[in-house]
Amino acid sequence: MNQKMTVAVIGCGNFAENFVPLFKSHPTVEKVYVCDLIEERAQQYSEKFGVPIIDSFETAIESSEITAVAIFTQRHTHGDLAARALLNGKDVYSAVPMAISVEDCKKIIDAVEKSGKTYMMGETCVYYPCAMLCRKKYQAGEFGKFVYGESQYFHDLSHFPEAFQKDRRSSGVPPFFYPTHSTAMILHAADTYATKVTALGYVDQEENTPFAEGENYWNNTFSNEFSLMQLANGGVARVSECRRIGYKAPSSYISGFYGTKASYQFSNAQHLLTMHNEKGVELQEISDLVNPERMTAHKTDDDFKNQVANHGYQWNDFSPVQKERYDQLPDEFKNMPEINGHMASHQLLIDDFCTAVCQNKMPYVNAWRAARYTIPGLIAHESAKMGGVPLNIPDFGEAPEK
Ligand SMILES: NC(=O)c1ccc[n+]([C@@H]2O[C@H](COP(=O)([O-])OP(=O)(O)OC[C@H]3O[C@@H](n4cnc5c(N)ncnc54)[C@H](O)[C@@H]3O)[C@@H](O)[C@H]2O)c1
Repeated sequence: MNQKMTVAVIGCGNFAENFVPLFKSHPTVEKVYVCDLIEERAQQYSEKFGVPIIDSFETAIESSEITAVAIFTQRHTHGDLAARALLNGKDVYSAVPMAISVEDCKKIIDAVEKSGKTYMMGETCVYYPCAMLCRKKYQAGEFGKFVYGESQYFHDLSHFPEAFQKDRRSSGVPPFFYPTHSTAMILHAADTYATKVTALGYVDQEENTPFAEGENYWNNTFSNEFSLMQLANGGVARVSECRRIGYKAPSSYISGFYGTKASYQFSNAQHLLTMHNEKGVELQEISDLVNPERMTAHKTDDDFKNQVANHGYQWNDFSPVQKERYDQLPDEFKNMPEINGHMASHQLLIDDFCTAVCQNKMPYVNAWRAARYTIPGLIAHESAKMGGVPLNIPDFGEAPEK
């Protein structure tokens, strides 16, 4: 490792608490600060994690001691903060999404180019076992040519943290302004990007909903949005983002991934692979390879399926398909198995960011890839507002070599 970082965590809400201890423990990090517009929140974090407070984002990006910021503010605020931090010479880790306008995505790319600093979007689903499995097999040629895939992020509004539900101006955000879990899984697995989209929306029908004219910053009425995307590799993906749906877990998943030679299908906790052979197809049950190890250990429990449907075993536990990447983690992380989350992706993401910064490498979910995961959703929302008109998706290409 060439240098040590001092990281300011911006936004001490619900999510960032999973990451402060990881930054603190990573061998490349010297010191961690916390920061929130709401003083008591920063105070709570400071006491809980034994870290100092920095009074504002502006002070953090002006500070000569702080080398990196980690942005965990509300989902529609990331674009401007990330671009400003980069232009002030800070490395940036940002929670998803990258931004909520194409212009802000481009601003971040330009800021990375101008500053030479590292930008990484912390997309948890790149490390979801289903995405890792499909990618591995696709890259090994086992699927043949990619034909069609389905991915989705289903998260009913009632299952969000209370503070988010109460923040109605923000919680009525168009579902496709938060597209990266669903887009990333399929685009990462099929190693491609989306070029064109057509989408439709479901106008929310509940009383007292934040998805209504005048209730949110965007006058958005859709609580669910569904799309078909043309991919650069010639295949097609159906990508959905739902916030009003009688379903819970797994919240992000690839339900189908079809190639010319083989197919993957998933439901609840069952993962199936069918491969062409001389006689027809051969079906393999590969659930134990893809499910987290603790889920597999419980698979004969009477309430197993309901546990899975309620998010059981889907937080800290690694799956065999993640093992190779897990083995590369620093010992400090391996010694804190209880500090992780979202299918054990948090540790992998923080290690990706810290390693990229300290070894001066381009992270996997760099600004260019983050734009390819974010922009298809932004354009899909435009298409849905126009009743499904197909629209081209702007593309800013691939990251240059570092
Ligand atoms: N799987 C995932 O990748 C995943 C899961 C959950 C949340 N997230 C993302 O994490 C982010 C945070 O989510 P959350 O639930 O913790 O939100 P939250 O609303 O609980 O917390 C956000 C905090 O940021 C603070 N804040 C806003 N602007 C600020 C600024 N300029 N300076 C300092 N503090 C500021 C707010 O006061 C608030 O305390 C969101 O963008 C969300 O999209 C990602």
